Amino acid sequence: MNTLPLYVGGRFENGADPSQEVVNPATGAPLARAARATRAETDAAIQAARAAFDSGAWSGATAMKRGQVLLEVARRLRAATAELARLETENMGKPIVEAEIDVADAAACFEYYGGLATKITGDVNPVPDEALSLTLKEPVGVCGQIIPWNYPLLMAAWKIAPALAAGCTVVLKPAEATPLSAIELARILDGIPDLPKGVVNVVTGDGPAVGARLAESEWVDKVAFTGSTRIGRTILRAAADSNLKRVTLELGGKSPNIFFADAHWEAAVEGAVFGVFLNQGEVCSAGSRILVETPIHQRFLEAVVEKARTIRLGDPLDRATRMGPLVTAAHRERVLSYVEEGRREGARLVLGGGKPDGVLARGAYLEPTIFDRVDPGMKIAQEEIFGPVVAVIPFEGEPEAVEIANATPYGLASAVWTRDIYRAFRVVRKLRAGIVWVNHMQPTYVEAPWGGMKMSGTGRELGRHGIDNYLELKQVHVNLSESPVGWY
Ligand code: NAI
Ligand code: MG
Repeated sequence: MNTLPLYVGGRFENGADPSQEVVNPATGAPLARAARATRAETDAAIQAARAAFDSGAWSGATAMKRGQVLLEVARRLRAATAELARLETENMGKPIVEAEIDVADAAACFEYYGGLATKITGDVNPVPDEALSLTLKEPVGVCGQIIPWNYPLLMAAWKIAPALAAGCTVVLKPAEATPLSAIELARILDGIPDLPKGVVNVVTGDGPAVGARLAESEWVDKVAFTGSTRIGRTILRAAADSNLKRVTLELGGKSPNIFFADAHWEAAVEGAVFGVFLNQGEVCSAGSRILVETPIHQRFLEAVVEKARTIRLGDPLDRATRMGPLVTAAHRERVLSYVEEGRREGARLVLGGGKPDGVLARGAYLEPTIFDRVDPGMKIAQEEIFGPVVAVIPFEGEPEAVEIANATPYGLASAVWTRDIYRAFRVVRKLRAGIVWVNHMQPTYVEAPWGGMKMSGTGRELGRHGIDNYLELKQVHVNLSESPVGWY
C-alpha cells in the first residue's frame, strides 16, 4: 500500500511512524498509510520553516516574484484538476462534482493572493511636518496552519496562499483522516523552482501531538486554525502559555437559514435544502437551523422534505451523485448520536435518520435527516452536528426570527429569505454573524472576508482582510529636523 511521506525542508521523507490508516469512506477500503509525525519530526519541520524565513529567501523575494509563484501554483492546480478531485473524493467522500469545484476554488485562491502580493502597501501617516511617519507591512514569520477534513485541499489553499503572498513560511498539518490532497499539493509546490525549499512544509499526524506542538512552539509566530470550537480554545490557551503567537480561528457554527412567508418559493425551498445538505452537511457554515415563519411552516416543510428526498446518495465518483458518505464511520456515529438526542428531546423526525442499506451499507452513509418542531433550546438546535441533519424551527414575525437566530453561542453565517428589501436589511443589521446571505446560502468568494463572530472564531480569512493575519505593522518615524530636541 502507498505510504505517504512528510514534506520537510523541501524533501519528501518517510516518517518514523507510518501507522495512520487512510480509508475511503464510501467503501471502507484502505487507501494509504500516512505518517504520524513524531515530536522530533514536527520540530524539524518548524526549524525548516524557521530557517527559510530567517534566510530572507522568500520574504526578501520581490512581491512580483512571490505573486508569479502563486499564479504558477494556480495553473498547476487547474492542470491537475481531474487527479486532485478524484483523490479528494476517494479520501473524503464528497461528490466528485463538488470536489472539482473545490479544486477550481483552490486555484482561484492562489490566483487572488498571487495578484494581491503586489498590492500590499503601507501608509504615510499625517503627522506634523517635522517628521515623516510610515507604516510598513512585514511578514509575521513562521505560520503553523492546522486544517480540518471537510475541504482538505481548499482549506490548505485558504491557509497557504495568503501566507506565501505576505512572505511568510508555513508548516501545514492536514486532518488525520484526509492527508492525500495535502501531500499532492506539496508535490506540486515542490515542482516550482522559484519557491525556495522549506518555505512550505507539510506534516501529517495526530492533532494532540503535531497540532498541539505547532500551537505551543516558541519558534512559531502565528497559528491559523480551522476546526472545532473545543480545539480552538486549546490553541488559544497554548499560544497564551507560550510566546503569545498570533492566532486566527475559524470554528464551528449553527447557522440560521431564515424564511419569511413572502420569500420566492422555489428558490427558498431549494435554498433550505442546499444550505444544509451540501458536502453532506459537513460545512462550517451549514444552514443547520431552518427558521420558518408560521403561516408557511407546514407547506414549506413538506416542500423541503420532498426536495430532500430527491437528493441522490451514492458512489461519490458518480457524476450524478449529490451526497456521498460522511468522512469516517466514527464521525457518522457522532452524527447519529445527535439524531438519537433529537428523538429523545421530543423533536419530530420527518425524514431520514438512518443508515441506508443495500450497496451503500458498506460506506459511512447517512440519510438526509430533517427534524421538525424543534425547540430553540434543544441540543439539536444549539450544538454543531456537522452532518446532514437539520432542525426546523417555526417563528412568528421578525423580532422572534432575529431572537432565535442569535440565541446560540455561534455566529459564523446566516441567511435571510424575503422579497421585502426593508425587512431584509433590518434583519441583516441585527444578525450577529460574520457572513449574511440574502436570498441565497453558501456561495463563498475568495474576494470577500470569511469568518465568525462570538464563539465561531476570531479574525477573518479571504479577501484583502485575509492577508492582514500574515502581516505585522511597523511604524517608522523619520525625523526631518537636524536640530537637537533641546530638552536638556
Ligand atoms: P478537530 O477540531 O479536532 O480537528 C481539526 C484539526 O485540528 C485537525 O487537523 C486535528 O488534527 C487538529 N487537532 C485536533 N486536536 C488538536 C489539538 N489538541 N491541538 C492542535 N490541533 C488539534 O475536529 P474533529 O475532531 O475532526 O471534528 C469534531 C467536530 O468539530 C466536528 O464534528 C465539527 O462539529 C467540528 N469541526 C468544525 C470544522 C469547521 O470547519 N469549522 C471542521 C472540522 C470539524
Ligand atoms: Mg477532534
